[in-house]
Amino acid sequence: MTTNAPIETTEAAPELHPGLAGVYLATTGTSRVDGQNGSLVIGGYPVEELAPKAEFEEVALLLRAGRFPDPEETARLKNDLARRRDLPEIALQVLAAAAERKLTPMDALRMVTGSLTWQSDPEPESDLGPEALALLARMPLAVAAYDRLRRGLSPIPADDAGRSLSLAGSLLYHLSGKEPSAARIRALNTYLNTVVDHGLNASTFTARVIVSTRADLVSAVVGALGALSGPLHGGAPGPALDLVREIGSPQRAEAVLREKLEAGERLMGFGHRVYKVRDPRAMVLSDAAARLYREEELGDEDRDLFDLAKTVEAEAIRLLDELKPGRRLRTNVEFYTALLLHGLGLPTDLFTPIFAVGRTAGWIAHIHEQEQDGKLIRPRLMYQGETNRTLSTTV
Ligand code: ACO
Repeated sequence: MTTNAPIETTEAAPELHPGLAGVYLATTGTSRVDGQNGSLVIGGYPVEELAPKAEFEEVALLLRAGRFPDPEETARLKNDLARRRDLPEIALQVLAAAAERKLTPMDALRMVTGSLTWQSDPEPESDLGPEALALLARMPLAVAAYDRLRRGLSPIPADDAGRSLSLAGSLLYHLSGKEPSAARIRALNTYLNTVVDHGLNASTFTARVIVSTRADLVSAVVGALGALSGPLHGGAPGPALDLVREIGSPQRAEAVLREKLEAGERLMGFGHRVYKVRDPRAMVLSDAAARLYREEELGDEDRDLFDLAKTVEAEAIRLLDELKPGRRLRTNVEFYTALLLHGLGLPTDLFTPIFAVGRTAGWIAHIHEQEQDGKLIRPRLMYQGETNRTLSTTV
């Protein structure tokens, strides 16, 4: 005989954590985000030490293996990526269809990513695994091919020049068809390294939730791309640059920013869930942008924009302190992302897809850790509502 007697439970009284703020999910060897002191450690290295010196391929291996790779390991990964530097036919068709419908580059990247493993590839020489390698090698190509297709240009075909370059170099090459300068490659490596990983941010959490159900890596990366696309996460750098452009001159900074804040708008590129001081990545990217603008001898218009951004940053912080006292809203990574990627000649709507290219290496490392942990992620909700409604029997 069955009874409906309540099951005795030893569960503690539930406690709500809106936005899961302050909740720790697991231990990790990937990165440590210290929001009070404004420090970020990636694979044991402070971001200021690692990002401007390492190549992105080295950082991808560091995150995945927990130690800095030796030159042979890096060479093996580069070779694996070079051998996958072509897009499957189906991926080109998806991108062409997306371009015809004028989808955003981030939508196109999300759609095409599921098809990037649809090709038989050589056996990997490095430890990253076939799906991870296919995504790392081809997401940059997909971003570049889509940018060309929507401008009515043909994608740059896979060729020896593209294969001989690093991931950062090949991304720039496949966008323009021209071999990029060392300064531009260095700047993009610094950017990709800076954004490669950042604790349990929304997109990384999404990737972990998906693989915790034992779904595959491609599903996790596609889900993470969706989470990254929102303006409160990876979608901010384009609007941050638009804001600087809208302000247009230092004299207008205070009036425009004040009006926005008084109207309840958020300033893109400011504020962070964890950092209550300046995001350390903002400093790394501001230095890298200043170096790029100097070394590439960018024109007066770009240099003026850079100077204006500095004024906007200072004014924004002053006004956020005045109008949002006690919230400690400071510059985040997205503000200088915008200036660095603009200095590389990239259109604003490519900023988030390129962020995704960098963050993919972080997602891959987290997916691996989550698979080791093996625990299904399944938090609870506290139900608030009726419990004893009845339906009318008239139907
Ligand atoms: N401009 C104006 N006000 C802000 C901003 C901002 N950029 N950020 C937060 N606030 C205010 C909120 O309006 C809120 O004010 P209230 O207390 O008067 O209601 C208060 O600060 C707290 O905001 P929350 O949304 O609760 O803070 P949370 O930690 O959830 O937000 C977030 C973090 C989403 C990044 C927020 O600061 C924001 O929207 N920033 C702008 C978007 C942005 O730059 N995103 C990129 C983040 S970096 C990354 O993801 C890679």
